[in-house]
Amino acid sequence: MKFPDLTLALLSALLIFLRSTTADVGNLLQHAYCGSTGTFTANSTYDLNLQTLLTNLTTSATNSSNFGFAKSSFGSIPNEIFGLVLCRGDVNSSFCSFCLSQATQQIQNLCPYYKEATIYYEVCLLRFSNQDFLSTTDNSELQYIKWNNRKVTGSQTLFDSYLNYLMNTTADYAAFNSSKKFGAAQLNLYNAFHETYGLVQCTPDMSSLDCAYCLKNLIGEMPKYFSGKIGGRILGVRCNMRYEQNLFYSGVSLLSLTPPAENAPALALAPAPAPAHQGPELHQKMQGTIILCSNQRLSIGSGQGISELKNEVIILAKLRHKNLVNLLGFCLEENEKMLVYELLPNNSLDKFLSDPQKSEQLDWRKRYQIIEGIARGLLYLHEESQIKIIHRDLKTSNILLDENMLPKISDFGFAKLFVLDKSCTTTSRIVGTNGYIAPECLMSGSVSAKSDIFSYGIIVLEILTGRSITDFHGSGSAPNLISFVWKKWSNGRAVRVIDRRLGDTYPINEVLRCMHIALLCVQTDPSKRPDVASVVLMLSSYSMDLPRPSNPAFFMEGSTTTTTNGGAPTNTSADALREQYHKQNKMRCKELSINNVTITEMDPR
Ligand SMILES: *[C@@H]1O[C@H](CO)[C@@H](O)[C@H](O)[C@H]1NC(C)=O
Ligand SMILES: *[C@@H]1O[C@H](CO)[C@@H](O)[C@H](O)[C@H]1NC(C)=O
Ligand SMILES: *[C@@H]1O[C@H](CO)[C@@H](O)[C@H](O)[C@H]1NC(C)=O
Ligand SMILES: *[C@@H]1O[C@H](CO)[C@@H](O)[C@H](O)[C@H]1NC(C)=O
Ligand SMILES: *[C@@H]1O[C@H](CO)[C@@H](O)[C@H](O)[C@H]1NC(C)=O
Ligand SMILES: *[C@@H]1O[C@H](CO)[C@@H](O)[C@H](O)[C@H]1NC(C)=O
Ligand SMILES: *[C@@H]1O[C@H](CO)[C@@H](O)[C@H](O)[C@H]1NC(C)=O
Ligand SMILES: *[C@@H]1O[C@H](CO)[C@@H](O)[C@H](O)[C@H]1NC(C)=O
Ligand SMILES: *[C@@H]1O[C@H](CO)[C@@H](O)[C@H](O)[C@H]1NC(C)=O
Repeated sequence: MKFPDLTLALLSALLIFLRSTTADVGNLLQHAYCGSTGTFTANSTYDLNLQTLLTNLTTSATNSSNFGFAKSSFGSIPNEIFGLVLCRGDVNSSFCSFCLSQATQQIQNLCPYYKEATIYYEVCLLRFSNQDFLSTTDNSELQYIKWNNRKVTGSQTLFDSYLNYLMNTTADYAAFNSSKKFGAAQLNLYNAFHETYGLVQCTPDMSSLDCAYCLKNLIGEMPKYFSGKIGGRILGVRCNMRYEQNLFYSGVSLLSLTPPAENAPALALAPAPAPAHQGPELHQKMQGTIILCSNQRLSIGSGQGISELKNEVIILAKLRHKNLVNLLGFCLEENEKMLVYELLPNNSLDKFLSDPQKSEQLDWRKRYQIIEGIARGLLYLHEESQIKIIHRDLKTSNILLDENMLPKISDFGFAKLFVLDKSCTTTSRIVGTNGYIAPECLMSGSVSAKSDIFSYGIIVLEILTGRSITDFHGSGSAPNLISFVWKKWSNGRAVRVIDRRLGDTYPINEVLRCMHIALLCVQTDPSKRPDVASVVLMLSSYSMDLPRPSNPAFFMEGSTTTTTNGGAPTNTSADALREQYHKQNKMRCKELSINNVTITEMDPR
């Protein structure tokens, strides 16, 4: 009797499924940050104090007079511990208690014996530390930011302005009208967009002004991450925000809003501002892009040959992405060859990494933002733009930084179009910058999107270690940086290569995850390197398991890494590399003639 058995099996599977979705907050885990203030041993005084504190916090928070919040310290120096817990304002006390008990267990699994740790769930958070973080309401550390990549249909600018209105109003309500310091609102957008739900919260011990300030900062960050997106959240220890197009909180909305009429007209489809017209000579017209010869503010690329310059202009004119430099115009006269970019006040990434003082300003948030931004720019080039492009010369000096330290990829002088199914092309000339060139390009002159991934991996390693490939002498400078990281990584000492200038307050697991991803990018076999979409996914999804990196390109057993101050250079002669490379791979490259890039070739299909 097969049939009833099967039904029964299905039924019990369904029951198990239902039970686990209602009573399990495990899948609501957002992120954990393990601290960097040291570890303790099992059954030590610190351990016992921690258990006492955690129990106390959960008990206090679930007392209905405390609004799901508790903060407390326990023990005496050096075993004093500070802790804080908060449940989302809409959850009932039993669910709050359940979430906090899960958090208490999980945090000790995820950050075993760490003196400091922070964990975010969808509906609660827990932080403890041996440092007194309770005396401030600073929210800038340990933020966890996440969004839904789907875009709204319709004007993004208009949506962004509605969203700002929703979150601002909800924030003011939470800060000034709610003793719980909690606000949840729905914005009715009728025909224009789907209705949108917003939620904000501060810890209830904060003053109205502190709470408003905290939330204002979060709202200020929204355009950077959430522009046009259908959902997003920023979690912090002291305040948090979230919005979605579905009702994600329980209970009724505290506010029901309709955007004020004056919000609409000013923002609807504003045309992009035209480049400043400072008496320029109209020189040439190309596909709607006005090209200017004028003494503009900034020009790069003067060292390029005319064909690289042309190449760059043609490619850039077709591209628009927040992580690519914006070309305003160019000039191609005999003595005046120049490209006019938007002004990027913070110069290029290499300037920051090579300057000890400037690199101190690059805290982990900024570095992470740069690592992610470059990946998103590259994703656009490789997969999202109407023409597919391999950059071929990614390096830190080609990553420009805007006033918010957002990275923009520049210098498309060597970029190549590629046809999707031809993953591999051969060029007669190897271009790129020594140290960033993937081994397969050095060996056979073949180029693929995966060679950009290799260069990206090198850049990420430079950002994490704070060391430029030029710090490593020898003919193969990248080989030495890679070996330096790989050796420590494979000995379980990866932490030692992290830039000391990051200080001691960075989320170590996040840094190590980036290092892991970078090592995947510099693997010898291009087919093992992740494509850029996977890189972006790995960076944004912490729950995703990463494969183990295999030996990276250029890594040689027994080679010594050399730094600025000496040591023999490693055996990285081109011959040695070629030999090593051919041992490991056999690349099949379709011969493909690369014509000089011309305007007609690049016309949209
Ligand atoms: C800690 O104490 C518990 C219970 O007293 C015991 O089971 C455990 O083995 C101890 N662990 C260590 C590492 O001493
Ligand atoms: C938790 O600790 C605080 C401060 O030490 C104390 O005032 C409070 O009574 C404790 N609460 C519980 C439920 O143990
Ligand atoms: C809840 O807190 C109030 C005030 O702090 C206290 O009087 C009461 O005993 C607490 N209730 C429980 C169940 O702990
Ligand atoms: C508390 O909330 C959970 C999750 O929303 C729900 O399943 C449960 O029934 C609620 N409990 C009470 C007592 O309202
Ligand atoms: C919030 O409080 C202010 C005064 O403090 C009041 O004018 C306003 O109507 C309140 N808003 C809501 C939505 O209750
Ligand atoms: C909301 O917007 C008003 C007007 O721009 C501003 O004064 C207020 O500080 C904003 N509140 C928050 C919490 O951002
Ligand atoms: C980046 O540029 C802005 C605007 O010029 C400036 O205020 C900021 O200090 C710069 N950031 C760094 C880290 O230099
Ligand atoms: C470097 O490698 C090449 C090619 O494998 C080899 O012939 C040469 O002896 C090596 N040099 C040293 C110093 O190991
Ligand atoms: C194309 O490139 C070749 C060398 O790579 C050069 O000799 C030739 O003049 C170029 N043709 C054009 C039209 O630029």
